[in-house]
Amino acid sequence: MNTDSVGDVADVCRSAGSVAILTGAGMSAESGIPTFRDAQTGLWAQFDAAALATPEAWQRDPATVWAWYQWRAALVRKSEPNAGHRAIARWQQLTPHVSVVTQNVDDLHERAGSLVTAHVHGSLFQPRCSRCSTVFDDECVLPTEPVASLEPPRCARCGGAVRPGVVWFGEELPRTEWNAADAAATTADVVLVIGTSGVVYPFAALPEAARDAGAVVVEVNPERTPIGSVAHHVVRATAATAVPAIVERLGLGT
Ligand code: OAD
Repeated sequence: MNTDSVGDVADVCRSAGSVAILTGAGMSAESGIPTFRDAQTGLWAQFDAAALATPEAWQRDPATVWAWYQWRAALVRKSEPNAGHRAIARWQQLTPHVSVVTQNVDDLHERAGSLVTAHVHGSLFQPRCSRCSTVFDDECVLPTEPVASLEPPRCARCGGAVRPGVVWFGEELPRTEWNAADAAATTADVVLVIGTSGVVYPFAALPEAARDAGAVVVEVNPERTPIGSVAHHVVRATAATAVPAIVERLGLGT
């Protein structure tokens, strides 16, 4: 890890009035949750996004789609927040004006103790009726192994099939969440972008929008991404290594 970058980033963050933290799948990688686009281990290297994460896939075969998302929900249930999630939560608890915006559909930020401003791609744990949008809050069956097919439950109100509460390719982002994400990114003094490949829009536009609005942009990612060309500082390290190191250097006390 480039510790000079961590020191520089901590200096920048210490003097910031407000910090927005934008996270992607890499944030949860060290909790054992696979990312989407990492070679070999990424979900899209093993599964076909078009067959699982689109409205068309749902129309064609809801039981296959539901089974895949419930398997992922089971994986998250078995996982724990990592040192990066915990450091962000501690930072947020000790400093006013640190907001968290995530593309992740897991709940690891919350389980670490963070308040999340926006889940822009929804949540694995907020299924809703595909017909009338009524929230479904009964317990769902969570398969511990990937299963080919699992019949989605039915909505108690209208009998429609219950769908995962996530955003699929080709769908609009939830407006309230997006507005909150955009506001957090474009009003912060410092924007920390952690563990995202920066290729899925509109989220991928937030670092540049933040920079245009005057923020100092910092990327934390062990790999090169397009965000590197927007960021003022890049920390080439994993979330669970870099974020605790940055927060440690802030000298927040306990
Ligand atoms: P990706 O899988 O596209 O990118 C993950 C990023 O995390 C890559 O840039 C990795 O280098 C980085 N990474 C891997 N391990 C890391 C670690 N331990 N610490 C820090 N970074 C690490 O995931 P996202 O950018 O989040 O959307 O993907 C964006 C969207 O594409 C997802 O929300 C999902 C997906 O299709 C929907 O499902 C709508």
